[in-house]
This record gives sequence, structure tokens and C-alpha cells, in this order.
Amino acid sequence: MENKNLAAVILAAGRGTRMKSDRSKVLHELCGAPMGRYPVHAARAVGADPIVMVIGHDPENVRNVFSSEKIGFVLQHDQLGTGHALLCVENVLGGFAGSLLLLCGDVPLLTPESLANLVEHHRTRQAAVTVLTVHQPDPRGYGRIIRQGEEVFRIVEEKDADEEEKRITEVNTGIYIFETPLVFDLLHSLSNDNAQGEYYLTDTVQMARDRGHRVCAVSVAERQEVIGINDRVQLAQAETVLRRRINETHMRNGVTLVDPEVTYIENGVEIGADTIIHPHVHLHGKTVIGSHCVIEPGAVIHDTRIADRVHIKASSVIERSEIGEDSQIGPMAHLRPGTVLRGHNKIGNFVETKKADIGLRSKASHLTYLGDSEIGADVNIGCGTITCNYDGVGKHKTIIEDQVFVGSDTQFVAPVHIGRNSLIGAGSTITRDVPPDALALSRAEQKNIEGWRLRERKKKTEDK
Ligand code: UD1
Ligand code: CA
Repeated sequence: MENKNLAAVILAAGRGTRMKSDRSKVLHELCGAPMGRYPVHAARAVGADPIVMVIGHDPENVRNVFSSEKIGFVLQHDQLGTGHALLCVENVLGGFAGSLLLLCGDVPLLTPESLANLVEHHRTRQAAVTVLTVHQPDPRGYGRIIRQGEEVFRIVEEKDADEEEKRITEVNTGIYIFETPLVFDLLHSLSNDNAQGEYYLTDTVQMARDRGHRVCAVSVAERQEVIGINDRVQLAQAETVLRRRINETHMRNGVTLVDPEVTYIENGVEIGADTIIHPHVHLHGKTVIGSHCVIEPGAVIHDTRIADRVHIKASSVIERSEIGEDSQIGPMAHLRPGTVLRGHNKIGNFVETKKADIGLRSKASHLTYLGDSEIGADVNIGCGTITCNYDGVGKHKTIIEDQVFVGSDTQFVAPVHIGRNSLIGAGSTITRDVPPDALALSRAEQKNIEGWRLRERKKKTEDK
């Protein structure tokens, strides 16, 4: 969306005392992203540029976490109120002429659609200030909206309100759009002569009116969108709302969620149509899943690309891996970072892989560890195979070429290179390279001692 002359300021300096946390409130996560990122993205989605965040508590960490967002930061040393907070950005936005969206870092659920509606409303009415409001059956704690028709007279804070004003249920969400430079002029004349001794941003409403400007209000349709997060109970409530929203988007895109109430998909995960996700699946980070996949209960998947028609069986854990099409994983497989399956693979129960590049159609069906390995196509890895990749000092590589058959209970003591189409006899400990087309065996030859049990038994009966 393009929106000329629109800037955004996100207030995030408050201590967030009720979170009882060492971290800034805006760093607490919702569906895998720090809370403060949601208003940044909503502002960007309606075309706001620049975007400036006012920070105060825990500023170093806040800057670090949002450093990739291409936003500006302004430090508010002492939190003297919302009006003072906005005044702090005058230095960086003082030269900006246009409309300024004011958002709160702790109101993460506001949608770009509602923001666009606020901008549109403000601009068509040529207002100097437009306040986003909401109807709260229980308005306690909020600033009340004193209206006359479409226009707003003033906003009165709970602590400064009389009995009649306290009965008003239309309240201030703390989200506004202001014309600049007017708003900075008004902020310079603010006083902190009120019940809380703070510089109230809300006082700019009456000041703008007194100077003959129009102040409008538009109310948000969904109350859930303007939930402010003050403690961890509200954090969990917001997470539930957001999770539901994410899950509904996937379902509308053609993904089956067997029980969306217990399916945990982080913001930004992509899933193709006709994929089926069973309960208690967790999809994290930059995970991308193709079409026609099945993800069974309890799978936990981080930052992984999964191609089409892949079947992830129950309780598998997959991290930073790539899984080619038509593969089957699990149950209870652990694919650790750097696993690449080229396609049509089978990785069965109790198989662990790490930095393993596994060719087309190759299989490891049971009880195996494949680390620091390059495995070709059509390789069969027998049950209980272990790549001994670590010698206590460094990690070493195992290379297994195409069409190798590895018998059960084999150890590869890396570095070791197995030529194509060779066969490793079950129970072997392979310490040297194997040429192509060979049979490699390394186990003590079997010895049979005939009649041994019978002689033993006879000895025992004689001893009695
Ligand atoms: C504010 C509004 C109130 C509204 C309510 C909605 C004022 C005076 N009142 O009240 O009308 O109903 O929000 O939640 O604005 N912040 C700073 N620096 C400060 C003070 C606050 O950055 O010096 C930030 C906070 O981090 C927070 C936001 O501003 O993100 C709102 O501050 P908060 O203290 O929650 O305002 P309320 O008193 O609840
Ligand atoms: Ca608040």
C-alpha cells in the first residue's frame, strides 16, 4: 500500500511493571515474534515511512531485536507521560509534514485493515486529529471519549473523570493519527497539572479544538484488535487470538487443521494446500511446508523447508533442515540442523541426522545416527548404523556413494569413504576406505564349539 506523507511512531518506553520481567514488554513474544514487531509491520503495511520507536526501558536489547526492521529509535530517558513520549521524536520528525500515526508497542493485534480505515477516515474528513476508539462494556482504567456527533471534544482520563464521565463506555485505544507539525506545537503547550502529574497526549484533543481544528473519532469493529498487554495473562490471551487468526488464514488457504485450538503455527510459516496438520504440531520460524503433506501429532519443526507429499510421522523433531518431495520421516525421528534429504527418502524411528546430505531414494529406517555425512542415491542404511564422526577433538566426514548397502549394526569411523555399489557386512566397524563394488567385512570370525552345552550340563549334575 502506498500512503504519501505518512509517518508512524510506536510508543514503547513504558516499564511494563505488571509483566514482572527484566525484559522490555515489547520483547515478549507472541506466536514467535516479539510483540513490538506487530505494530511495526502494521504501520509498514499501510505505507508509513519513516517508522520511529520510542524506547526507554531495556533500550539496548530493544534496539538489537528490532535492528533488522529499518526503523528509527528515540530514547525517552524518563517516562513523563504519553505526550512527553511523542514530543521526544520531534528532533527526528520535526521536519516531516504530513500525517503521523501513533501506535503502542503493547497493542499488537491491530490489523492493517483497521489502520487503513483510520487513515482513510482522517483524510476524507480533513481532521487534525483522529482517535481510534472502542466500546468497552467495562471502561475502567481507560480515557473516556467526550463526543459531539462525529467530532471529539476531549478525552478525560479515568483518574480525572467525574461520575457522569466515568459512565461513558467509548474509550481511547491509545492509537491516533495527527497532522504534523501541528501536533508538536500542541505538545509544547502541554501541562502536567492532572491527577497523575503526567504530560497527557490526550490533552492535545481539546487544544486542537480550541485552535479551531477538527478532531474526529473512529471506532474499531473488533474489540480484540486493541487489547493492550499489561501482564502475562493478557499476553496469553493475545496469543490465543493471534494463533486463531493465523490458523484461520491457513485453513482458508486450503490447509486442514484437525484441531486448530491445539495447533501452534508461528507467524510467517507457509503451508501448501491439501496439507493435513494433526493436533499438537508446532511449526516455528521460517518453516515452509509444501502441498499434500501430512504432519502427524506432536511434530515440532523449526526453520525447515519441506517439499510436496512429505509425511512427517508422530513426535518427530526437525530443525533447520530441507526435506525433498515424497519423503517419510519418523515416527520419533530427530533431524538436526544441516540435514538435506534430496527426495523420496525414508528416515524411520529413532534415527538422528545432523549435517547429513542424503541422496534420492536412500533410506535409514531404524535406530541410526548419521552425522557429517554425504550419502548418495539408492543407499540402504541398516538398522543400528552409526557414523562415528567425533574423535574427541574434531568432527570428520563419512562419504557413502550411490547404491551402497550397509548391513545392520555398522560403525563408520570417520573420515571414511565408501565406494559406489559396495556392501558392508552387518556388524562391521569400518575404519578404512572401501573401493567400489566390494564387500567389506570387519568382525571376528565366528567359532562354533560343538556339544559345549551338553558337556556343561553334565558337569553341573555330577557336582551335585
Ligand atoms: C493511555 C491513554 C488512555 C487510553 C489508554 C489505552 C494517555 C494519557 N492515556 O493510558 O486514554 O485509554 O492509553 O491503553 O495517553 N509510554 C511511553 N512513555 C511514557 C508513557 C507511556 O512510551 O512516558 C507508552 C507505554 O509504553 C505504552 C503507551 O505509551 O505503550 C501507553 O502508556 P500507558 O501508561 O499504558 O497509558 P495509560 O495510562 O494506560
Ligand atoms: Ca495501558
